[in-house]
Amino acid sequence: MLFKQQALLRQKLFVLGSLAIGSLLYLVARVGSLDRLQPLCPIEGRFGPRGQDEIPLRALQFKRGLLHEFRKGNATKEQIRLHNLVQQLPKAIIIGVRKGGTRALLEMLNLHPAVVKASQEIHFFDNDENYAKGIEWYRKKMPFSYPHQITIEKSPAYFITEEVPERIYKMNSSIKLLIIVREPTTRAISDYTQVLEGKERKNKTYYKFEKLAIDPNTCEVNTKYKAVRTSIYTKHLERWLKYFPIEQFHIVDGDRLITEPLPELQLVEKFLNLPPRISQYNLYFNATRGFYCLRFNIVFNKCLAGSKGRIHPEVDTSVITKLRKFFHPFNQKFYQITGRTFNWP
Ligand code: A3P
Repeated sequence: MLFKQQALLRQKLFVLGSLAIGSLLYLVARVGSLDRLQPLCPIEGRFGPRGQDEIPLRALQFKRGLLHEFRKGNATKEQIRLHNLVQQLPKAIIIGVRKGGTRALLEMLNLHPAVVKASQEIHFFDNDENYAKGIEWYRKKMPFSYPHQITIEKSPAYFITEEVPERIYKMNSSIKLLIIVREPTTRAISDYTQVLEGKERKNKTYYKFEKLAIDPNTCEVNTKYKAVRTSIYTKHLERWLKYFPIEQFHIVDGDRLITEPLPELQLVEKFLNLPPRISQYNLYFNATRGFYCLRFNIVFNKCLAGSKGRIHPEVDTSVITKLRKFFHPFNQKFYQITGRTFNWP
C-alpha cells in the first residue's frame, strides 16, 4: 500500500516537473531570445577582438545591467579599466527638432545593443558657458560605453541655434546628424502646450495659442513667435548646409514614429551603418498611454514620461488653416532639399 502511494506521488511529481519545464520552454520560445534569458557571464569571455560592424548579440543584456551601474557612478576606476569602458564623443547627434519626438527617438535607438545614449540633454554647443568649458568637459558628460559602441546625444536646441553648426563641424566634420520633424503646425502647438504647462505649474496665466501665432495688427502669421519660427524647418536646415553636406543628415518622420516606429528606426539603423537589431519585440503599443513603449527584455520595459504625449488645447480651425498655408512653401523647399516628402497639408 505504502509502496503504491509512493509510486503515485513520484508519478505526480514527474507530471508537475514536466509541466514546469514545458512552460519554461514555451516562455523562452515566446520571448524568442534564449540569449536574453542566459545568466550574465564574465565580460572577458564575451568580448574578443571584433570588427567594427560586429555587434555582440548579448550586449543588450550588458547595457541594462553593468553599464547601468557604471552610469550611476557606482563603478570604481579599476572596474572601468578592467572592462575597457570609455567615454566617447558622440558619433551621431539628434539636433532637433524640439517637440518632434527627440526623446522617443533617442530612447528607441538606445534599444540597439551598439548604441549608448547620453541621458540628459547636454547643451554643449548651444550654451556659450558650457561651450567655453571645452571638448573634454563635453566628453566627460558622455556615458561609459564599450569601444565598439556608438554614443548618441540629443539637444533639440542645436537645430535652431545660430552658432551650433560651426561648433559641431569643428568637433567632427563627418558626424551624422539626425533631425526628427512633425507636421509643422502640430509641432508648433505641441511647443506651445509645453510652455503653457510650465506657466500653469507656476500658477501663471498665459496667452491663447491663437493670440501668439497670429499678429493682431496684420492678421497674418506672427513670424516673431518662436514656436512658429522653429517650424520653418528649411530656414534652419539651410544654415546647417553651409557646413555639412545633405548626406550627413537623416530626416526622421516624427508623426510616423508615433504610429509605426519600427520602420522609422530601421531607416536610422541603416543611416548609422548599424546591423538591424531593433525588432517589433522591443516595441509594444500601450493603449493606456496611447503610445508605443519600449521592451528591453523579458523583465525590463518602460514608457516615456507623462510629459511626452500631452493633450493639446483646441485651436481655432481658421488659425490652423492660416498656419498650414504659411508653412506650405517652406515645406516644399524642405522636401526638395532633403529628398523626403511628407503628406503635410
Ligand atoms: P506631444 O506631447 O505634443 O504629443 P520631444 O521629445 O522632442 O519633446 O517630443 C515630444 C513628442 O514626442 C510628444 O509630443 C509625442 O507626441 C512624441 N512621441 C513620439 N513617440 C512617442 C512615444 N512613444 N511616447 C510618447 N511620446 C512620443
